[in-house]
Amino acid sequence: MSAHLKQDEPENSNRLDDMCQGVLGKAHPRVEGLAKVTGTAPYAAEYPIEGCVEGVLVTATITRGEVLAIDKEAALTMPGVISVIEDSRLATRAAQGTAGEAPRQKPTQVCYWGQPVALVIAETFEQARDAAAQVTVEYRNEEGAPLDPHSVEREEQEGETVTQGDLAHAMSEADHTVDATFTTKGHASAAMEPHAAIAQWDGTDLTVHASLQMLNYNISELADALDLDEDNVRIVSRFVGGGFGSKLGVSQETVAAAIAAMELGRPVRVVMTRQQVFQCVMRRSETTQRLRLAADADGQLTGFGHEALVSNLPGEDFVEPVLQSSHFLYAGENRTLRLDAARIHRMTAGSVRAPGEAVGMPTLEVAMDMLAEKVGIDPVELRLKNIPDKDPEEGLPFSSHTLADCLKKGAEAFGWEAGARRPRLRREGEWWIGTGMASAARVHNISEAKARVTLKPDGTALVETDMTDIGTGTYTILAQLAGEMLGLNPEQVLVELGDTDYPRGPGSGGSWGAPSAGSAVYVACRAIREELAKRLAIDEGTLALTNGKASTGESLSTLLDGEELAREGHYEPGAIKDDYTASGFGAFFAEVRVNHFTGETRVDRMVGAFGFGRVLNPMTARSQCIGGITWSIGVALTEALEFDPRDGHLANCDLAEYHVPVNRDVPDLEVVLIEERDGAASPIQAKGIGELGMCGGAAAIANAIYNACGARLFDFPMTPDRVIRAMPAKSNR
Ligand code: MOS
Repeated sequence: MSAHLKQDEPENSNRLDDMCQGVLGKAHPRVEGLAKVTGTAPYAAEYPIEGCVEGVLVTATITRGEVLAIDKEAALTMPGVISVIEDSRLATRAAQGTAGEAPRQKPTQVCYWGQPVALVIAETFEQARDAAAQVTVEYRNEEGAPLDPHSVEREEQEGETVTQGDLAHAMSEADHTVDATFTTKGHASAAMEPHAAIAQWDGTDLTVHASLQMLNYNISELADALDLDEDNVRIVSRFVGGGFGSKLGVSQETVAAAIAAMELGRPVRVVMTRQQVFQCVMRRSETTQRLRLAADADGQLTGFGHEALVSNLPGEDFVEPVLQSSHFLYAGENRTLRLDAARIHRMTAGSVRAPGEAVGMPTLEVAMDMLAEKVGIDPVELRLKNIPDKDPEEGLPFSSHTLADCLKKGAEAFGWEAGARRPRLRREGEWWIGTGMASAARVHNISEAKARVTLKPDGTALVETDMTDIGTGTYTILAQLAGEMLGLNPEQVLVELGDTDYPRGPGSGGSWGAPSAGSAVYVACRAIREELAKRLAIDEGTLALTNGKASTGESLSTLLDGEELAREGHYEPGAIKDDYTASGFGAFFAEVRVNHFTGETRVDRMVGAFGFGRVLNPMTARSQCIGGITWSIGVALTEALEFDPRDGHLANCDLAEYHVPVNRDVPDLEVVLIEERDGAASPIQAKGIGELGMCGGAAAIANAIYNACGARLFDFPMTPDRVIRAMPAKSNR
């Protein structure tokens, strides 16, 4: 039996707070933690499958052109080699959950350096790798493929363009203005677990163990790529070693393993090398952004401009949504926002860790810091002054708004010294020391989701959905949520995720996982509670369940009478989606040291305060925030994809050359969670948290660099060479 909730109204009841036992909202360690730390949680490549052979991808070494011939002879004579597969479907791109919409290309066409062109299959991985190196590919190389987004025509993204009032006029009339152009480099998701898949084909049905974020879409993409019926495809993805966007779409190793398994009739494993993950899966677009701010003498914004140029391959739909929160974060009645895309031949651009805000917010928040300096007020005060009381473009109310609270509580936790600021006030030896802050915002996303909950006569419950846990804590929060509503401890709730045989959900991405999948579990548990209440002849709204017992005294096992009680919950966002602007908010505060002679920046401490609706589990939520802040250190200081301008190949394609922040780079981070209930965001009054923690954090560091040493930088990441170049020549000491 199934229960359906299409949310049209805010959820104002306190059911999850008042009805039950306080399991939700408690710090609870990960239910799968033991399996993970003991190495018994299997990742995609680790399933022991008998007779499994190994595939290694051969990738293109040109940027644009055509494959004329592939010479397999040498490889085929090598020990253990079974086959060299040439198949145009190997080039299937990792689309962004847009099954059936991935661009179709000519079978032999090459669009980017690193595109898979062949797959070598051998008995062992080493044999396949050695043989892959002996496959020679003859190309027709089309020289002059555009690699620089500034060198080609711009495609205006009309849905993103907003022109309100007259920004140019506002700029000319304003007491204070900022007009600055920033750049950000491309980023890699850089998940620890490389992309991997094992495919099995029995002649009719395909089963794939893969590392993917959105199985509900991935199954359609895979079926589409292989011309199979979805009913004949099953994807299993129980544990995912990080995705960060790179596993939203089905990627080439999964398609390759499936093609080979179907051709050879044997199970095939394909694991990408680290270099292949960097070169052919996906990137965040580089951006160029112009920020214009106009303000009156007090710092009240009268004009707001944010224009961005991003890129992708020809034919791709995804356009880095740089302006996403610029549309509603600050007031300013004269507005110009515009997003342009350029078509260049780097690997597909897609969602990487907080697509849009991760690079849009830092530039905006540096511009705000520049404005605060011009107005001569505290940068926290400038933000507080410009919080709009409704969406400044759409006129919609906010579902909830915690920015002011986050700014104040974050400042307090950090020990922020209020007032107008001047750079270069503190120096210790070679090091300039300074502080900076920035706002955070990340739009709230929520999607249709299904989950089945079964209450068992032995006093346990089972939750099943194809939702994934990509390291975020899904297993744990769903166990807490079902436990809360059914009067059980989380230990009594078994959560089964990551299998397309279960009811379908939206998967993990865009921080929608917890509110979407959580709401499906909520709907299923409500239906179970209604049935239990009916058996007790009371109203569900008065049914309290604690420790396996109803408030009326009956135990769950008596009520179940030896039978299971199962309900499928089906949640859909309804009209409410269009009634509110919904977002998570936050504030970052950072203290940094900048070396006067080398330009090196070290982050000494950071505080992040975040409001994102109900906190389902403060332990996993805090971990998400710490992860986000850590990535914001990467955006600020180290992360940059570097492409060779001559042939377009990615030069830094491993974790040594593409530097994500490591323990040595990350100080003790303090996270302040702002509790609130946002019933318009989801029935469980929660919003997403995964990505909020990195949306703007890089600006707190950039602003702290300026406050420390007087170097105002406009290009991210702020590597030592760039800091040294921007360092004022004359020391004031
Ligand atoms: Mo995310 S970058 O939408 O996985």
